[in-house]
Amino acid sequence: MGKGVTLPKWLVIAACIIFVGGMVAVGLCVYYLAPPPPGSEVTTDTTSTVTETTTQTDMTTTTLRPPGDINYRLPRHFSPILYTVRLLPIIEEGNFTIFGDVTIDMVCNENTNHIVLHINDMDVHQETIKVSGEGLEGMMVHHTSFDQITQFFTIHLSGELKAGMQLSLSMSYLAKLNDILGGFYRSSYFDVNGNRRYIATTQFQPTDARRAFPCFDEPNFKARFAITLGRKKDMTSISNMPINRTVPHENMPDYEWDIYEESVPMSTYLVAFVISDFVKNPAPNAGETEVAVWSRPGAEEQTRYATNITSTVLEYFEEFFQIPYPLPKQDMIAIPDFGAGAMENWGLITYRETAVLYQPGVSSAQNKQRVAVVIAHELAHQWFGNLVTTDWWDLLWLNEGFATYLEFKGVDRVEPEMKMEQQYLNDAIHYVMQLDGLNSSHPMIMPANNPDEINELFDPIAYEKSGSVLRMMEDFLGLEVLKEGLTNYLNNRTYDTATADVLWEFLGDTATKYSVDLNGLTVKDILDTWSLQKNFPVVKVERNPENYTEITVSQKRFISAQFEGAEEYYWHVPLTFIQDFSNNSSLKRRWLSNSSEPAVYTDIIDEPNSWIICNHKVFGYYRVDYDEINWDLIQVQLQTNHTKIDVMNRAQIVDDALNLASADYLNQTYKRAMDLTSYLKNEFDWLPWETADNNFDRLRNLLSGTEAGALLNDHIRSLALHLYELYDFNEDPMDKHLDLFLRTIAVRIACGTNFAPCVEKAKENFINWSADPDNAELISPNLKPTITCTAMREGDVKEFDFLVRRYNSTNVAAEKDQLLSAMMCTDDIILLRRLLEWSITDGSPIRKQDAVFVYRGMATNQIGKTLALGFIQDNWEQIASYTGGYLTATEWIQSVSRYYNKQSELDELIRLKEEKAPQLGTVRTLDQAIEQVTANVQWLEKHYQTIHNWLRNNSGNPVKN
Ligand SMILES: *[C@@H]1O[C@H](CO)[C@@H](O)[C@H](O)[C@H]1NC(C)=O
Ligand SMILES: *[C@@H]1O[C@H](CO)[C@@H](O)[C@H](O)[C@H]1NC(C)=O
Ligand SMILES: *[C@@H]1O[C@H](CO)[C@@H](O)[C@H](O)[C@H]1NC(C)=O
Ligand SMILES: *[C@@H]1O[C@H](CO)[C@@H](O)[C@H](O)[C@H]1NC(C)=O
Ligand SMILES: [Zn+2]
Repeated sequence: MGKGVTLPKWLVIAACIIFVGGMVAVGLCVYYLAPPPPGSEVTTDTTSTVTETTTQTDMTTTTLRPPGDINYRLPRHFSPILYTVRLLPIIEEGNFTIFGDVTIDMVCNENTNHIVLHINDMDVHQETIKVSGEGLEGMMVHHTSFDQITQFFTIHLSGELKAGMQLSLSMSYLAKLNDILGGFYRSSYFDVNGNRRYIATTQFQPTDARRAFPCFDEPNFKARFAITLGRKKDMTSISNMPINRTVPHENMPDYEWDIYEESVPMSTYLVAFVISDFVKNPAPNAGETEVAVWSRPGAEEQTRYATNITSTVLEYFEEFFQIPYPLPKQDMIAIPDFGAGAMENWGLITYRETAVLYQPGVSSAQNKQRVAVVIAHELAHQWFGNLVTTDWWDLLWLNEGFATYLEFKGVDRVEPEMKMEQQYLNDAIHYVMQLDGLNSSHPMIMPANNPDEINELFDPIAYEKSGSVLRMMEDFLGLEVLKEGLTNYLNNRTYDTATADVLWEFLGDTATKYSVDLNGLTVKDILDTWSLQKNFPVVKVERNPENYTEITVSQKRFISAQFEGAEEYYWHVPLTFIQDFSNNSSLKRRWLSNSSEPAVYTDIIDEPNSWIICNHKVFGYYRVDYDEINWDLIQVQLQTNHTKIDVMNRAQIVDDALNLASADYLNQTYKRAMDLTSYLKNEFDWLPWETADNNFDRLRNLLSGTEAGALLNDHIRSLALHLYELYDFNEDPMDKHLDLFLRTIAVRIACGTNFAPCVEKAKENFINWSADPDNAELISPNLKPTITCTAMREGDVKEFDFLVRRYNSTNVAAEKDQLLSAMMCTDDIILLRRLLEWSITDGSPIRKQDAVFVYRGMATNQIGKTLALGFIQDNWEQIASYTGGYLTATEWIQSVSRYYNKQSELDELIRLKEEKAPQLGTVRTLDQAIEQVTANVQWLEKHYQTIHNWLRNNSGNPVKN
């Protein structure tokens, strides 16, 4: 999946079992409860987990089983070869029934008298279940059973199936086009006449194919798929493969069947189909592979950017992997309701609108970049993930890490001006280090069995940390070695699954072939220290005070809130040192072994009186601390001529210094960090400012409402003043991508710290634009977030109502996101509460997929912050039923808790965890939230005085040299 916003969640609404006529009904309570069909029997015993039905009688038997120790993995008695799936969804308000038939051709691997596969939320017509094959005449279905917890559907047969037998299993069933953004679900939009139009679409990763058809729903049961979709004549359907032919429906005159080509072998989670009245926008410059982007009518123009770049990125990956894209076509579609960012279904990539649609003049440069990044990410998956799939979800990081690492390369091909190498630092490395600095972080490889645990894996560790570790590997193996090893691995495991160890073997062989220095270790030895341990190291580089040419290098585990008795971890760390960025040959490489032993080097320093910097361009996934002498040398260099230090390393210094200070690793803590970052008054490059802005934002939140907080505001404003004066609000058509970004930061800081001329100008801009909101000339989409937020902050219900009206009427999803964020800048408690209500109300202006934005926004609003947690607690059950699971509520809590810093807030969170834990399949997300708030509370006690003193001493004159 593309790095998400929220993930589709499996349905945990109510554990209730119904028995309907001759059908096994699973979890469709809501659908069938009122009124129950005649002759049905409703059981609402919530403690039962297994329902057994027999074809002979209408008897239901339930089996109780102790919780815990549940095996969620299917037995491997069968290997599916071909699924023939035929689905016809009714897409009409009030009737979202799906009629389904499936036939699975499979091989029996072991003698057995029962077949176990997955289903969820469907009614299988008991009497239609058939097993056929040579020698299977007379084989009957004895009875079936269903386990709600594991979602296992077991078909008990009257006789034994023998290893080696080929057989077909078929059945018919009813399912429902749901509205929880998972499985086969419905999405809708309003057409130009204001009518609501529905579409049917899918999201199966990780465990929701079983909601659309009975299947062996684990990634390593690969098979071919022959899909047939029934649809009304005035709609179209698309799926992974092209349509072979269309035939009339035998007894529904308004309907037709689209019969698809058989797919290549693939995992169930990659199957996809969409039935809609959408418009197909073909790519103008398609090569071998036919490329098209589908959108709702009215959004055609917004697909132009995606159609422009997709073929080029696709060809780039063909070249990168040295393997042609295996399917005849690549469809992409913008779905109005979509839980994650995008999904890499093979040949049919689904996106949320903001991840693929771009409207020049309305969407921002940031929106454009996001489109490029997500497209590249999903295309990379067509090889890494689709062609070769990881064996089980515990290796999700390998799929997502590679897609994350490669997305930057793919974008670089089409948009070199976006300077993706620089973007990587903040978007991936610094971003994930916040989470990965927690003791409650987790290793990249992570056992996961139940669907909640699997869903929880789709986090920044799987994406950004894994991507960063792979980028580090690129640096120590060399790009060409990495590419050759990858190609060999993909060719070896085509249409199959693999584990990380297999990849390490192929990379190791290639490294040996080219004599890469791995310190006598294997690729596996090295990577295991990064993938099997959570967190990351702080590397300390100390110069011998007697002899400046000698350095001692050691490592320590980084934890953002250090505590007594924390276990030490050690890594195999690829070190790089540089003393002169203008001369690449001064770059020196060493390995630091995974032990507490420091390494002493006498052959690294060329210039005894000059600074040394470790972690060139931040290829290494670690932070760096120095002794006082070297820090002083770096500080002087930054203040005299900062451009002597590479821009990526300047950003590194800003982020490392502020985070090492926060976590108490840095001698002099914030005094050193604030001294170092004072050089920013002369910084006119985007990257270090972006880094600083992220860090200052957190500091301002932690200090909000205090005297030091007010002083910090003044300090940040004065640091950014030069920048603001230079950039102001005046966009120039010649501006480069990063200039647009930098101006955005300058204006955001100036207005955000209440610099009067900025605030006035923002209000003025807002008034002009709100008088003529369709005029894209009046307001830059890059500055619009700050302009609208400032106007909202200074305004009242009048501004709010305008934003809501515009939110409802704009045709561009990216603008909706901008406006929603702006609404959350109000400090009116009634309006904030209204937004929270909307976030969990069907038919409100806020789509279910966007609810998480409301919570993220609340986190940065002082009043919203205090409202959000109580709201989630008060509406716990409503959130679960609205979003299809409790996991969403915990994610919302995590997204607000980052900025909590009061003991009372911490106590409340702990109490909440104790109360809700029994309902949750996993509490890791809540633990992370609790640890983060604990760290924030401690932080204030520990650092307030230092920061306050520094700010007092430097106030009015923060720009001293
Ligand atoms: C939905 O429509 C189908 C096809 O017209 C029909 O057979 C079915 O009874 C309807 N179901 C409901 C719940 O209205
Ligand atoms: C459709 O399928 C048939 C039977 O498998 C095959 O012979 C034919 O070539 C296919 N047609 C197209 C247009 O792909
Ligand atoms: C798409 O490409 C064309 C031709 O290169 C270019 O003129 C146009 O501006 C591009 N559109 C977008 C939205 O990038
Ligand atoms: C994959 O690699 C293994 C180990 O190198 C080798 O034994 C096997 O034959 C290869 N398989 C394919 C399909 O290339
Ligand atoms: Zn992905």
